[in-house]
This record gives sequence, structure tokens and C-alpha cells, in this order.
Amino acid sequence: MPITKVSEEELKDQRLFIRRVCAVIHVFDHKPLAYTHSYGCQQNVSDGEKLDGMLADMGFGFTDTPDNADLVLYNTCAVRENAENRVFGNVGALKHLKEKNPDMVIAVCGCMVQQEHIAERMHKRFPYVDLIFGTHVLHKFPELLYSIYEKRKRVVCIPESDGVVAEGLPVRRESSFRASVPIMYGCNNFCTYCVVPKVRGRERSREPESVISEVRGLIEKGYKEILLLGQNVNSYGKGGDVDFPELLRKLDAIDGEFVISFMTSHPRDCSHELIDVIADSRHISHHLHLPVQSGSDRILKLMNRHYDTKRYLDLVQYARSRIADIQLTTDIIVGFPGEQRDDFDKTLELMKAVKYDSAFTFIYSRREGTKAAEMDDPVPDEEKGKWFRELLDVQGAIGEKAYEKYVGMTLRVLCEGRGRTDGKLLTGKSRQNIIVDFVGDDGLLGSFVDVKITKSLPWALVGEVVK
Ligand code: 5AD
Ligand code: SF4
Repeated sequence: MPITKVSEEELKDQRLFIRRVCAVIHVFDHKPLAYTHSYGCQQNVSDGEKLDGMLADMGFGFTDTPDNADLVLYNTCAVRENAENRVFGNVGALKHLKEKNPDMVIAVCGCMVQQEHIAERMHKRFPYVDLIFGTHVLHKFPELLYSIYEKRKRVVCIPESDGVVAEGLPVRRESSFRASVPIMYGCNNFCTYCVVPKVRGRERSREPESVISEVRGLIEKGYKEILLLGQNVNSYGKGGDVDFPELLRKLDAIDGEFVISFMTSHPRDCSHELIDVIADSRHISHHLHLPVQSGSDRILKLMNRHYDTKRYLDLVQYARSRIADIQLTTDIIVGFPGEQRDDFDKTLELMKAVKYDSAFTFIYSRREGTKAAEMDDPVPDEEKGKWFRELLDVQGAIGEKAYEKYVGMTLRVLCEGRGRTDGKLLTGKSRQNIIVDFVGDDGLLGSFVDVKITKSLPWALVGEVVK
């Protein structure tokens, strides 16, 4: 599929708007502060880093509370209803701040407002929201913000689009050694429960040269962990010369000490070749997040997932045979329309068979405009809640023991900071993407250390630095 790249002209225009906003806010009697928050997935967080990058270039500083902010920006998620409800609640809570400070600019963007009915509701219910913009015009944020400052009129910009790729936007990264790099955008899978293809447009990949030069640049700057992002990374480069395994090979050939991880992999397209590339690599994380969604072939069909449990279990078995220390994680939806108790039992069976290191579990949330939203959904919420708790219990018991296999191993750990629960310990991530806590001094921050694992917890490992 041809890439719809945002033209250099257009990007130049936006840089001009950055300078214009800069000039407007320059006359404020204080340095203007932005409070920004991104909900949802890593892809959205990565978009948030670009929005922050544009704000920084416009001259904004940042604050961690809306209370003293001159601009509040919520970058929203639409994947489940509770994520949307949280945004409605948080935007509602800004009312009194806007009354106190009418000059405050309030903006809402991202997946949730890309849905027309939500944008309308947001616009009507919160007249003090100044700017609402969708996923396809992220790069136009400077222009949109400038028009708010210039005209003082509300702006809604949510064009329908198959999606674009905007290269070279400024990025304000949250970490100085961990960086996210989107490699593709959008999704063509149309899982029947999922709103993502509707709000993020069609699959489009960045050119391999752009990805490789960005990653190379980050490593030269000292970044140690590169997270490649896409709704379905296995579809990277479809129709082109460089597919996902090949992209990984090329990135793995870069010299230096760093780890490359990626998400998310679709079991339909995850191949033995991909697993072989991971197994034979120098830098690629030994972590495979492979969302199964359900253990019932009947439900997988209704979900339009294009694989069955046999294929899935074959992938798991192959991954474990090639990469003994691999961490396997998954996503599971409970209570998909029409799911019966015996379907759910099959999900429990699959969980017990695979023994995931951890699982992200969700109760099905009806998303307007999806195929599943039209399906019969007779199982009452209480019943779904019961199944959900059962699933948590089963995974809880598996998770208790899941990390035991790492005890006695020496893992190379990227040291990231002080532990949240015990500030005396340093904490980091192993190549398997598992949290590892150990005793050490701050000089180790941002570097790799070998840690001998002495103890496993359900969510982390504990060990000692090997001298
Ligand atoms: N309801 C519940 N969970 C969902 N997910 C995606 N759409 C829905 C929905 N409508 C889950 C899937 C996906 C993860 C990111 O969110 O498990 O893998
Ligand atoms: Fe949420 Fe999906 Fe959008 Fe990510 S892509 S922010 S998970 S709706």
C-alpha cells in the first residue's frame, strides 16, 4: 500500500505555526505551563511524546498538575468504555479551573474523539473545551493551537482519513535511556470487538531507512532500550522489500549495548521466522506478547482473529523450544458476545496449558461501530464478572510460580532507577522484560549489570549484582 506521507511543505508550515505560537505566549507575564496526559497504549503514549515535543518547541514548560497549567491536553483512548469514562470525568473536573482562569486552553485529542458521536458529546457537554482534534491531524497541533490563541473560538478538527505518516516531528521523551519508535500506524485486521481500525485508519509502515536511522541516532545518543511500536508489528512492510523479521535483522546488526523490544504481535502473522530472528539475535528482547483473546476456536472465529488454538499453541511451543528463557504474556477478553461457559472453560484450559508469565485480562466492552456491537450478548454482566474473577484467580496461581524458572540464572539488567516499593533497592529490566530489583549504587543508573537471581515474586525478580 502506498504510504501517505505528510509533505515537507506541510511540515514546514507547522514549524511556522510553532514560531507563531511562541510569539503569542512570549508576551505572557510568566513562562506558560502545559499539563498533558496520554491514556491507553504505548502507541498513544508515543503520540503524546510528539505532542509534548511540539509544545516544548512552542515555548511551553511542563507541570504535573492541571491546577497551575495554562494549557491542558488530554490524549485519549477508545479501546474500552471505562477509559472513555475516565476522560469524561477528568475533563468535567476542569470546569472550576477554567472558571478561575478563563485564559486556560483545554484540548482533547486522540482515539476517543476520533469517533464522531464522542466528539459531539464532548463538544456539547463541555463548552469550556477549546480544541478537539482527531488522530489524523496530530502533526497539525501547532496550527490548531495558534487558531485558538488568535481567534479565541472553539475548534473541532476530526477529518476522516485512511491515515498519514508524519516524519521528523519533535519528540520530548519521558526517559533518557528508553525510547519508543513507532514503525507502523493503523490496523487492517478488523477484529470484531475492536475500535482501533476505525479510529486509527489503515495500516501504513514507515520506510525502513527512516526507522533504522532513527534507531541508530537514539543508540548514538545513549538510549539503551528501543521499543518498536505498531498495532500489529507483524504486518510491517507488507508489499515492500523489508518485512518485520528483516527489519529486526537490520536493527540487530547495529553495534552497541542495547535491547530492542516490540509490541504488539498478532498470532495470525507471527511466524517461526520471527521467532528464529529473536532466538539468533544479539539485542532483541526475549519477551513475546502474543494476545490470544480467547481459548475457544468458536469465539476466535466470531472475533475474526484468523487463527485457532492449535496454531497458537504451536507458536508458543516453538518459541519456548527456540528461546528457553522467553517471557510469554497475553491479552484475554472475557464475555465476548455469545461466549458460553464452555467457551470460557476452554480459555481457562489454554491458560493452564500455556502458563503465561502474566496476562492482561479485560471484560468485553461494547464499542459502537464494530461488528461485535451488533451481536447478541445474552450473558448478564454479573456472570461475566464471575468468570473474570475466576480467570484472575487461575492466572494469579500460575503467576505466583511463573518467574521461579529464572532463579539461579544470571540476567543482564538495564538499571532504570530506585525501586518503587523499596527505595533502598535499584530496579531495572532484564532482556526478558522482567523487573529485577537488586542492591547497588546510583552510578549504575542507565547502564547494564549482570544480576544473579536469588528470589522470584509474582511481578518481579530479586537478585545480586555479579562482580
Ligand atoms: N473490550 C475489551 N477489551 C478489548 N480490547 C480491545 N478491544 C476491546 C473491547 N472492545 C483488549 C484486547 C487487546 C487489548 C489492547 O485490549 O485484549 O489486545
Ligand atoms: Fe487506545 Fe487503541 Fe487508541 Fe491505543 S490505539 S489509544 S489502545 S484505542
